[in-house]
Amino acid sequence: MTVSTTVLGIESSCDDTAAAVLRRDKTGKTEILSSVLYGQSSLHAEFGGVVPEIAARAHAEMLDHCVEEALAQANTSLEAVDFLAVTAGPGLIGGVVSGVMCAKGLSVATGAPLYGVNHLAGHALTPRMTDDIGYPYLMLLVSGGHCQFLVVRGPDDFDRLGGTIDDAPGEAFDKIARLVGLQQPGGPAVERAARKGDANIYTLPRPLLDRQDCDLSFSGLKTAVLRARNNIVAEHGGLPEQARSDLCAGFQAAVVDVLAEKTSRALRIYLQSNPPQPALCVAGGVAANGAIRMALERVSKKFGADFIAPPIALCTDNAAMIAFAALEQMADRPPDDLTLSARPRWPLDHTRPAMLGSGKKGAKA
Ligand code: KG4
Ligand code: ZN
Repeated sequence: MTVSTTVLGIESSCDDTAAAVLRRDKTGKTEILSSVLYGQSSLHAEFGGVVPEIAARAHAEMLDHCVEEALAQANTSLEAVDFLAVTAGPGLIGGVVSGVMCAKGLSVATGAPLYGVNHLAGHALTPRMTDDIGYPYLMLLVSGGHCQFLVVRGPDDFDRLGGTIDDAPGEAFDKIARLVGLQQPGGPAVERAARKGDANIYTLPRPLLDRQDCDLSFSGLKTAVLRARNNIVAEHGGLPEQARSDLCAGFQAAVVDVLAEKTSRALRIYLQSNPPQPALCVAGGVAANGAIRMALERVSKKFGADFIAPPIALCTDNAAMIAFAALEQMADRPPDDLTLSARPRWPLDHTRPAMLGSGKKGAKA
């Protein structure tokens, strides 16, 4: 009798090549034995965004090494892997194809069944892996490529309450950094500058707060920052250090206000179903922002919901979440076969409209 299940997960949907090994024992307890990630940011730095062809080639080159490294760190071998899990979308098609092909090859070689996993399900199920929380919970996904509110009701049961209609917040942070001459990734640089600034110097919009839904928009805010910057440059012949900090502070305060208000609305909708242990969870790189975290925590408290922010290495793209999602979904669905294909625009909530177009991180969701 098998006493535990070992899953090898593979993720390559954007600019990180990742592999992880997870083991679930017969009591249902899951351990992350390894989680390896080869980032590509240096390859894309000079282009100001992810270049799909470069990403796909780098994934194809690194996947084997990444899998070997994950197995070695987990002190296990391919023969001991019971199941394979791979991101089959959404994301940049070249990267997703690389991962799916690699996983299919491993499946054929070892005979281990293969699960194609939705990348967003990986993010959305992470709080169960890190904090063992019960369904249903509210998830806010905020990264360079994602921005959406999801009520997570089960391993493959998601209700999308709303999301961005244009940019993802991390994408906006990165663009603002570029506008004011700060380095990439923009989020941490803008946050650092904002600490030295006054958020009340420049009047910036809080887009879509006049709409009662859970949708968000960041592109108008970005344009307002561009205009303010141009005015400063025209007046001073450059962007003084203090004005840069004030602009960053103003921008961040606007993002905080928008996220806090829309999260309140999403919480109100989620709480209507009387969840037994209400929880607001976050995932995505933007969740690393201190001001945003504090605001979300404050809102959760106000509504009597727990606030759960997984460790940042598991909030951002990783393969442990993909292996975990497969473990969660296994009981309810059979493995995929070799016809599994890449789905670059795979929506999580089957009842909602398809995704937005592409951003600098591929298909936005
Ligand atoms: O989840 P992630 O690592 O990758 C994807 O987008 O897939 O998120 C990266 C994004 C970048 O846009 C980065 O600027 C943003 O998260 N980010 C932050 C902070 N740290 C990272 N944004 C705001 N404040 C931060 N401290
Ligand atoms: Zn992601």
